[in-house]
Amino acid sequence: MSDLLADIADVGRDAKRGGYSRHGFAPAELELRQWFTAEAGKRGLDVRADRNGNLWAWWGKPGRNAVVTGSHLDSVPGGGAFDGPLGVVSALQAVDVLRAKGFVPTRPFAVVVFVEEEGGRFGVACLGSRLMTGAISPQAAAKLTDPDGVTFGEAAHKAGFDPLRMGRDERALSMIGDFVELHVEQGRGLDVPVGVASSILAHGRWRFSFTGEGNHAGATLIEDRRDPMLPASRMVLAARRAATGGARATVGRLIPNPGGTNVIASSVDVWLDARAAEDERTREVVAEITAAASRAAEDEGCSLKVTEESYGDTVHFDPDLRDSLAAVLGGVPALPTGAGHDAGILAAHTRTAMLFVRNPTGVSHAPEEFASSDDCAAGVVALATTVEHLAT
Ligand code: GLV
Ligand code: MN
Ligand code: MN
Ligand code: MN
Repeated sequence: MSDLLADIADVGRDAKRGGYSRHGFAPAELELRQWFTAEAGKRGLDVRADRNGNLWAWWGKPGRNAVVTGSHLDSVPGGGAFDGPLGVVSALQAVDVLRAKGFVPTRPFAVVVFVEEEGGRFGVACLGSRLMTGAISPQAAAKLTDPDGVTFGEAAHKAGFDPLRMGRDERALSMIGDFVELHVEQGRGLDVPVGVASSILAHGRWRFSFTGEGNHAGATLIEDRRDPMLPASRMVLAARRAATGGARATVGRLIPNPGGTNVIASSVDVWLDARAAEDERTREVVAEITAAASRAAEDEGCSLKVTEESYGDTVHFDPDLRDSLAAVLGGVPALPTGAGHDAGILAAHTRTAMLFVRNPTGVSHAPEEFASSDDCAAGVVALATTVEHLAT
């Protein structure tokens, strides 16, 4: 089996953070898209982009009710090698396995690469699949801004897409009969090489903007300060306290403005990621954190604005597809996941399933993310078996 992950191992390495920083429509992701186009071409697949920036590689004639598999090539900042690319390279390798067997799909079949799944550049996860399904409006997407002030609309335009033509794509949606995404498992949920997904936690992202008064770190008496870093810090602690009973709440990004050592910040943006098994519990956790953040802001004479940047309810993958795949793959286990995926967005529109490949350390969204070559190979065989089962 060709080692396609090794082929792209040097693309988008992040010397400062470690691991990979490959963001939607930024140079490393664009290079990977070209690499994908070439690899799909070598396999005789016909690659085209949809109007939302997602790539489709068709084996044979495009058509409705297709079997579609794939994932994403972008990463979080300083991410691992597997989250995203494993699903894409496994799809190409599954084509190789099926070709070698002489298999020809009788249903249309495509490999898809979604753009900006992590939201690592523009803040909203699963942007390509959200646009395609209409879960985000093209106007809202176009305005999303990266840390350098470049909008998604500008980045898309530069990559050759027209942001005015983006948005819900009925044609693309009608093409997908079954969608299957293979992904590295992101916790310690699998003790065999391959499993199938049962559900995804309800989850979302909220931006808490605390505003106080920028001032001098030495000349301003403590009692004269309105320092937004204080309520921001108390909010981080409140997030940990609120996340009980299996809920998760994370602050992984806290941005003081202007961000100088000898400067009391004038404002601080705190991004909250909150997740729980049910919608209600997720909302409850966010409400508790919001209440604590409001009290903390008031204590310090600061103002607070809370913006829901994205949200998705619990996803339950199609039970018939899940059970039939688990059986076809030899009775593999089904497991829930705390991570979001394009498959989770598509599940509201089409029959959708996920295959997971064991992650022995349970680390993900970090350079230490890992899956063994043997388990990755088992993933490819499982995906080939899945495609054979569905596309016959
Ligand atoms: C994406 O991988 C997420 O779960 O946030
Ligand atoms: Mn991820
Ligand atoms: Mn992923
Ligand atoms: Mn994800």
